[in-house]
Amino acid sequence: MSIVYLNGEYIPIEQATVSVLDRGFLFGDGVYEVIPVYGGRLFRMEQHLWRLGNSLAGIKLENPYGIAEWRKLLTELVERNGGGELSLYLQVTRGVGQRDHAFPAKPSPTVFAMASPYPKSSEPMGAKAITARDIRWELCHIKAITLLPNALLRQQAVEAGATEAILHRDGIVTEAAVSNVFVVSGREVATPPKSAQLLPGITRDLVVELLQEAGVPCDERAVSLEELVVAEEIWITSSTREIVPIVELDGVPVSGGQPGPVWETAHMLYQDYKARIRAGAVD
Ligand code: PDD
Repeated sequence: MSIVYLNGEYIPIEQATVSVLDRGFLFGDGVYEVIPVYGGRLFRMEQHLWRLGNSLAGIKLENPYGIAEWRKLLTELVERNGGGELSLYLQVTRGVGQRDHAFPAKPSPTVFAMASPYPKSSEPMGAKAITARDIRWELCHIKAITLLPNALLRQQAVEAGATEAILHRDGIVTEAAVSNVFVVSGREVATPPKSAQLLPGITRDLVVELLQEAGVPCDERAVSLEELVVAEEIWITSSTREIVPIVELDGVPVSGGQPGPVWETAHMLYQDYKARIRAGAVD
């Protein structure tokens, strides 16, 4: 049975309930994180907690816990769910209040966290993607639970027989509906630079770091839609998918419809890093 954390208590998921007046439910007024767990160890916990703090600051909600409290809470949640390979989801909303768009004077945040088995890859040989106009708001660096545009875009991909929508604004690639984007052009790797137009992915940052350490040229720079559609390789990255090669874009094969050689290198570096996490050498 899955044990979740809700407002100070560890309880079976079936017993976890929140009020219909919670602003998360009424307004999507909250933020979240998704943190992988490998061999019972939280992946890049510090970076995830830093981004959580940044998201909370972005919606003007005080962080309910300090770093040490978050660490204790999440570590205990992992233990209570048997460790191993998990995906942690946590969310903080502005809590319960009368339905009013303006914030309550003294919000009492709702804090929820759950652990699920780490999702098995359904796309080991690569995935299909579509391109779509980025219809989201101007604060995409905040990991907000208000995900309707992302859900619409991902559904658009699913209905086109693909799994992800790669987004563009004014001819420039931002990210994808649920992941960040990398391209390989002329054997050089590039990913869009951090800005308010995209989520600063923790997986993305590690991929950049690992490639640079290994001496593989990797740039954080603007990627145009024209460059994307002729790229030698396209990858998407996220906490629940790691690095997935895109082998078809808008129905056209990418890198001959196979994962490309630079992806193989990135994938190997990432798997090595995970082995080091499991051994407790890094986090
Ligand atoms: N989403 N961009 C968007 C819009 C995302 O939703 C995600 C991840 C990422 C990748 O970030 P990270 O590498 O830190 O997971 C980029 C999570 C997994 C989700 O919503 O389930």
